Formats: sequence, C-alpha cells, structure tokens
Amino acid sequence: MTKRDFLSLADLKPADVHELLDLALALKSQWRAGGQGCETQRQRLADKTLGMIFQKPSLRTRVSFDVGMSQLGGRAIYLAPEEIRLGERESIPDAARVLSRYVDGIMARVFSHEDVLALARWATVPVINGLSDFNHPCQGLTDLLTILEKRDRLEGVKLAYIGDGNNVLHSLLYGAAQVGMHLVAATPEGYGPLAEVVQQAKTMAVDTGASIELFHEPREAIRDADVVYTDTWTSMGQEEEATRRRQIFRPYQINEALLALANRDVGVMHCLPAHRGEEITDEVADGPQSWLFDQAENRLHAQKAILVASYSTS
Ligand code: CP
Ligand code: NVA
Repeated sequence: MTKRDFLSLADLKPADVHELLDLALALKSQWRAGGQGCETQRQRLADKTLGMIFQKPSLRTRVSFDVGMSQLGGRAIYLAPEEIRLGERESIPDAARVLSRYVDGIMARVFSHEDVLALARWATVPVINGLSDFNHPCQGLTDLLTILEKRDRLEGVKLAYIGDGNNVLHSLLYGAAQVGMHLVAATPEGYGPLAEVVQQAKTMAVDTGASIELFHEPREAIRDADVVYTDTWTSMGQEEEATRRRQIFRPYQINEALLALANRDVGVMHCLPAHRGEEITDEVADGPQSWLFDQAENRLHAQKAILVASYSTS
C-alpha cells in the first residue's frame, strides 16, 4: 500500500491539484448546507486520528486541522514544541515510527524542511507539511481555492506577490505553475525566492501556460494585477533580523497608494498573521478589496480535502 504524503505542491500533478480543489469545494458546500451532508461527512474519517507536531506557534494551522478532523469524524492530537522536542528528546526516525503505531496521519510544522522530509521517510502513515522554512503547501492550496472561488477561474489570473521571497512565496510559485496562473513577484535584492524553486516552477509552467516574472520594484509587479498577496517581512525563526528587515522592506508595504496601480476589482490576500502597519495597512486589510478572512476560513476546507485524500490509500 502506498501512502500519500502532502509535502510540496511541486510533488503533485496539475490534475491532482484540480482534484483537491474540487474536493475542497464539495466538502465546503456540503458542510455549509448542514443536515445529512454533515452526517455523511462525519463518516469520512470516522475514528481516525491525526498527530499534530508543532515546532513553531500557530493559530490557523492548529485550529483548522483540529476542527477539520472533527468535522470528518476523527480527532486530532496537539503535540506542542516542548513536548516532542523533535530530534532532541528522541530522533526523528524513532518519533516517526512510534507515532505511526498510534495515529493514522501526521501533520508537522517544522523549522528545517529536512525534518518534515525525514518524518515522511520514516513514518508509515501519511505526513502533511504544516509549514517549514522552505514552503507552506497547505497555505498554497488554500490560496488557489480562494482565488478560484472569487474569480471563478485560475488560468490566466495575474497574482502579484509583494514582499519577502519566503516559504509562502515558494508554495505560491509551485501552485501558480500547476494551474496556469501568471505570478509576478517583487522582492528586495537579496530577499528573493530560491533560484531552484523559480526554475522548477518555470519548468512546470511550460505545460500549463503559467508564467513567472521576478522584479525588485513593487510598482512594476502590481500593475494590472487581479490579486495582490503579501506576507510578514520576518518569518518565524528570523526574529533577530526584524529591525533590519523593517527598514529594507518599507517600500513593499501594501497600502492604498500602491493598490491603486492594480486592477480596479483587485483582491488582497495575506496568509496571516499580519503585522499591520508593516507589510499591510489597516485600510487595505480591512478594506473592500480584502479577502483575508475568507482566505483564512479556506484553510479549513482545503485541509479537509488534503486529509481525505491522504487518508485514502491507493
Ligand atoms: N497562515 C498560517 O499558517 O497561520 P498560522 O501560523 O497561525 O498557522
Ligand atoms: N512566512 C511566515 C508564514 C506564517 C504562516 C512564517 O514562516 O513565519
């Protein structure tokens, strides 16, 4: 029996991505309709468990996976950073093999991407990447779901990412390449996405008609954008660089003046948590173009699809 890990959007085929999005939409509307549909949904992962390993803090990932599991009839077990101490109290291979004897799936939020890869290598149950320093595939799938709902298509949509070339941008690059979107990123010099990720995304884009363009100047990237996306300038684990980053990234703030250069009906996205007054202003985050909270809600629906797909072995 093969197990279905969810470690990177680059591991999937475009058809897998569309299948997950369709499943997420179906689960979302079924749950919202209430009644018998909810009962049916509670059978999907009845009595299944998910072990959730966290090396870093979380609101969305922790709560949406927990609630998602209970809506699907299963349960989630939260393992705090100080409890497991992955790789310190015991080795990752040992922790992965022990957990696999108790739970039916593992979700892990880690610093080093190597750690989630090692968990997947040693676990005999599916492993879902809940964010690493390298990528954030659950967020990436959620973002595609949100754009699809709001725009009724993904192909040809122009997404401008303004800010740090981080884990979230890496997953957006893979996601956009999978579904034929036009991703334009503006990042300060020295803070761009990894060259190998850009190259891989461009290779994937050949088959889907996607395009990837990189700039340093935010005003160039945002022009005619259908969707504008930003994330924190200082990711978890980079806290000692925060002061310097605040200075370097100041021209990359999403404010009303910058947003005026995008399409009139532009949507604004942010994976959250937001640092209001830094990468995004209150006016934009709370303004009529903000999709922030619909996007946050969609973590639940996208991850329920990931859970259902991961737990159904082939
Ligand atoms: N966007 C996101 O992953 O949020 P949390 O860090 O709160 O899980
Ligand atoms: N880039 C951010 C995303 C948080 C959800 C971080 O890694 O801290």
